[in-house]
Amino acid sequence: MESVTHSDLIIEELPPEMMKQKIPDDQLTFGTEFTDRMLLREYKNGAWQPARIMPFQNFSLSPAALVFHYGQAIFEGLKAFRQNNGRIVLFRPDMNAERMWNSAKRLVMPPLDKEFFVDSIKTLVRLEKDWIPSKKGTALYIRPTMIATQPILGVRPSEEYYYFVILSPSAPYFKEGFSPTKIKVEDKYTRAAPGGVGEAKTAGNYAASLYAAKLAKQEGYSQVLWLDACQKKYVEEVGAMNIAFVLDDTIYTSPLKGTILPGITRDSVLQISKDLGYKVKEESLAIDTIVEGIESGSLTEIFGMGTAAIISPVGEIKYKDKVLQINNGNIGEKTKAIYDELTGIQYGIKEDKYGWIVPVEE
Ligand code: PLP
Ligand code: COI
Repeated sequence: MESVTHSDLIIEELPPEMMKQKIPDDQLTFGTEFTDRMLLREYKNGAWQPARIMPFQNFSLSPAALVFHYGQAIFEGLKAFRQNNGRIVLFRPDMNAERMWNSAKRLVMPPLDKEFFVDSIKTLVRLEKDWIPSKKGTALYIRPTMIATQPILGVRPSEEYYYFVILSPSAPYFKEGFSPTKIKVEDKYTRAAPGGVGEAKTAGNYAASLYAAKLAKQEGYSQVLWLDACQKKYVEEVGAMNIAFVLDDTIYTSPLKGTILPGITRDSVLQISKDLGYKVKEESLAIDTIVEGIESGSLTEIFGMGTAAIISPVGEIKYKDKVLQINNGNIGEKTKAIYDELTGIQYGIKEDKYGWIVPVEE
C-alpha cells in the first residue's frame, strides 16, 4: 500500500475505486465537497508519529475520546489558488502555521512543527491539484485540524491527538459572494471575554456562537457582529471574519487584544490599505459611533475579511430596533479596491510585492 516514504510523511496509494466525481466550478458551494485524499498524523507516547497521506476516509474513535467531552480541538483555514497562468499557490501558509502553534499552546495541545505544517500541505495539495477550481472566487479550501483522542473522562489535557488535513474545493463562504451581506449586532450574547480563548482558533468559540447566529438568521441576517463582552459597547468581529469600517475616510478595525481572531486576511488588508494610500487605525469603535456615522453619512463602508469570506461587503446592519443601510446597500469604493488588490495577488493578476504567494510546485 505504501509507495513513497519521507522521514515523517508516508504517501499511500489511492485505489481508483476511491476516486470521486468532481463538481463543475459554477456548482461549488463552501465546504460541502471533499477531495480524494487527506493527511493524518497521530501524537502518542509523547511524540508526533510519521504522517500519512491516505484516501479520504472516516476515523474510528472511542466515544470516551476527550474531544467529544471537553472540546480540546483547534483548526486552521487557508486556500490553494489556481492562478491565471495555471500556477498553483498557497496564500501566506506560514501565518496559519504560526496561528495553529499559538492555538495549540493555548489549548495545551502539542504544537506542530511549522515547516512540517507548510511542507505537508504543499505535498497534499500537489497530489490533489486536479481538484483546484479555477473560476474567480473559487479555491481549494484547506482545513488543518487537531483533536484530543485519548479515551478518558478526567478533565485534563489529552496525551493523544490526531492532526488531520482535509481539502474542499469551494466557492466563497457567503452565498452572496461579493454582494453585500446583512449582519445583526448582538447585544445580549457574547463570543469571547478578556482572558478567554477568543484569539485561539478553537472549536468551542464557534459552538458558542451558534445560538446568537440562529436568532440572527431567523431575522434574515447572515451573521452576527459581536460586541465586547464587558460593556457591550465596542465592536469586535463577526462569526467567521474580522470586520472593518470606513469612517471619516479612515479604515478602522478592532485591535488584537486577545478576544478576536488575528485574521490573516485582516493583516493583509491592513498592509494593502496603507499601500493604497488609505488611512488605517487599529482601534475599537463604539457601536454608537457606528450608528451615528451611518446616520450622518460619515460612515460610508463596512466590510468583513476572512479566508473563507474573502472580502465581504456589508450592506445592512441591525442594532437593537434600528435597521441601517450602508452606502445604499452598494459596494464601497475602498472595499472594491481592496478586494481587487487582494484577489489580484491571490489569482496572479497583480504583482505580489509582499512575498505572500507560496508556489506549491517550484
Ligand atoms: N474571525 C473569525 C472568528 C474567523 O473564523 C475567521 C476565519 O478564519 C477570521 C476572523 C478571519 O481569519 P483569516 O483571515 O485568517 O481567515
Ligand atoms: C476561515 O475563513 O478559514 C474560517 O475558518 C471561517 C469559517 C468557515 C469558520
